[in-house]
Amino acid sequence: MLEEKIKQITDDFNSDIKSVEDIQKLEEIRIKYLGRNGVVSSLFDELKKASNEEKPALGKSLNLLRNKITEDFNSIKTRFESLDDLKEIKIDLTLPGTRRQIGSKHILTQTLDEIKTIFQSMGFSVYEGPELESDYYNFEALNFAPDHPARDMQDTFFINKDFVLRTHTSPVQIRLMESHKPPVRAIMPGRVYRNEAVSARSYCMFHQVEGLYVDTDVTFAELKGTLVSFAKQFYGDDLKYRFRTSFFPFTEPSAEMDITCFLCHGGGCKVCKQTGWLEILGCGMVDPNVFKYVGYDSEKYTGYAFGMGIERTAMLKYGIDDIRVFFENDLRFLKQF
Ligand code: PHE
Repeated sequence: MLEEKIKQITDDFNSDIKSVEDIQKLEEIRIKYLGRNGVVSSLFDELKKASNEEKPALGKSLNLLRNKITEDFNSIKTRFESLDDLKEIKIDLTLPGTRRQIGSKHILTQTLDEIKTIFQSMGFSVYEGPELESDYYNFEALNFAPDHPARDMQDTFFINKDFVLRTHTSPVQIRLMESHKPPVRAIMPGRVYRNEAVSARSYCMFHQVEGLYVDTDVTFAELKGTLVSFAKQFYGDDLKYRFRTSFFPFTEPSAEMDITCFLCHGGGCKVCKQTGWLEILGCGMVDPNVFKYVGYDSEKYTGYAFGMGIERTAMLKYGIDDIRVFFENDLRFLKQF
């Protein structure tokens, strides 16, 4: 008898609880089943009348029933309560959203992008090489004599006897020529390293862009024309320029290109050290000895090369007076570009 009642009440409870829609209804159900005069209590009263043999089993199923009802009730109650919390959170859809901070390209990347665009428009492709170089590529194949002062420990980070952190991007010229037959025309950007004391003017790591053009009948006049065209596009149409003779082991003849100081327009100031001129790059005709190393026929081919520092280029263009700011990641600096 009681056994059946328990079953019946379990079913009733299950169907009651299914249709419950709010917390008041839930409370009513709780009172109906678990209240002092509720269904479950009356079953416990009936248990007292059961025979001694039946009591343990019936008691057990009654306890199970009461626990099940309590648990179901509690879990549904917490669900209703958390729904209520949600209703409390008022959302104002008219408020403006929080703006996400979007980064921007580093000024060196922007400068390099600009340099790339100008040279690509003149038919140069972009080629890259490793930063860890062998002595062969960084010096020997570029015609540095074994006792050349640039190999001195002062300037070069030696990894061991045969390997260095490249001190310039010129070794990429060698790699490009080794792997491509002429004509070749490319710029080669990348990081370079020098073992120098860090100051406003020099840093142990910086960036260069190398340029190389080799073909039959490439002339110094073409080199000048290309570099002048670049400088005018990059620094402005009205600039004056000059080429001074210079020396690099891998070019002959060699030159450095100066432009009139962008600040004083030639009058003389702190940036140009009162000379009115700023050096922007080194260049020259590829030395025939270099062609020997890469297996190009120097009777048939001529070429020019040039190299410029990207930090220096950006410093000149934007009037930045300390190279270290490029690497400090100070947002007050970076956000200006
Ligand atoms: N590699 C030279 C330097 O680092 C620059 C250069 C490149 C000069 C190509 C001439 C030709 O100073």
